[in-house]
Amino acid sequence: MIVTTKQLFEVAYGEFAVGAYNINNAEQTVGLFRGCAESQAPFIIQISKGARKYTDKQILEGLIRSAAEVFPDNIFAVHLDHGDEEACYDCIDSGFYSSVMIDASHESFDGNIAATKRVVERAHAKGISVEAELGQLGGVEEDIKVDEKNAKLTDPAQAKEFVERTGCDSLACAIGTSHGAFKFSGSQGLHFDVIERIQKLLPCFPLVMHGSSSVPQDEVERINAAGGEMKGASGVNVKEYLPAAKKGVCKINIDTDGRLVWTRVHREFFRDHPDGFDFRKPGEIFINEYTKFIASRNELLGSAGQLEKVRAAVK
Ligand code: G3H
Ligand code: 13P
Ligand code: ZN
Repeated sequence: MIVTTKQLFEVAYGEFAVGAYNINNAEQTVGLFRGCAESQAPFIIQISKGARKYTDKQILEGLIRSAAEVFPDNIFAVHLDHGDEEACYDCIDSGFYSSVMIDASHESFDGNIAATKRVVERAHAKGISVEAELGQLGGVEEDIKVDEKNAKLTDPAQAKEFVERTGCDSLACAIGTSHGAFKFSGSQGLHFDVIERIQKLLPCFPLVMHGSSSVPQDEVERINAAGGEMKGASGVNVKEYLPAAKKGVCKINIDTDGRLVWTRVHREFFRDHPDGFDFRKPGEIFINEYTKFIASRNELLGSAGQLEKVRAAVK
């Protein structure tokens, strides 16, 4: 069942975080739905502009609708990840998305407010909620690359002003994480002090943590042992997910870790089966491994076992 992102946040706030997982294809979709069914967790499906172009936005929509029929007990929201205005309006007009993210964090403070306000107006008119971003994460997203020294943590006072002036429904804050598989290479770490100050100024307001992959070291080692070159890859400490959730982080974005599972499975498969060419064989292993990965993340986020609570709330 597709619900609004707002409904999920109302149940989650201060208790647990909802996992927001990106999909690009059928294998990820099946693994995601199975993993969430097994762990009895609500979840958010994220679709980036890149994913909408790669598999085609209509095909992704069809995949999700079919998965919802195959897994009728799952409860989830559908969200546009890192949208620009054009992508946001397209998703709003499609009538399919529960929420959109307008990422104008690279603009000036006033420019970010203006763009976010325009999207909020169009989205709210259709009952769709809006995630905005303030501050700048390091790493790569879509075609924008921000190096660590140019990453900017969210200023709590600005966050309050931003939310009040834009009317956005949730806020992605830069609190030390970065996108991709190479986090915390310099002095960065998770800034709980910043989350706390934002929560104090914006009580009960849902916060979002991007760049939350944990980049499991065993995964990286297996990738490297099978011919990969990912030396120095590192991510967020999974023990920090739940403390962040207790401080108002309702949505935790995880994409890179799923790509690592895919890379490990396929590198190992073709190393061990040099004559193999039936993609369904590694595909099946990937779906099973991704299912386990998703269930394990939901446990760490505290969303595992919350499905019935959410079902009762959305009735
Ligand atoms: O933050 C970006 C997400 O990991 C999506 O990545 O834009 O390459 O699909 P993508
Ligand atoms: P990771 O690169 O850490 O998985 O972050 C994903 C993300 O923030 C998607 O918006
Ligand atoms: Zn992100």
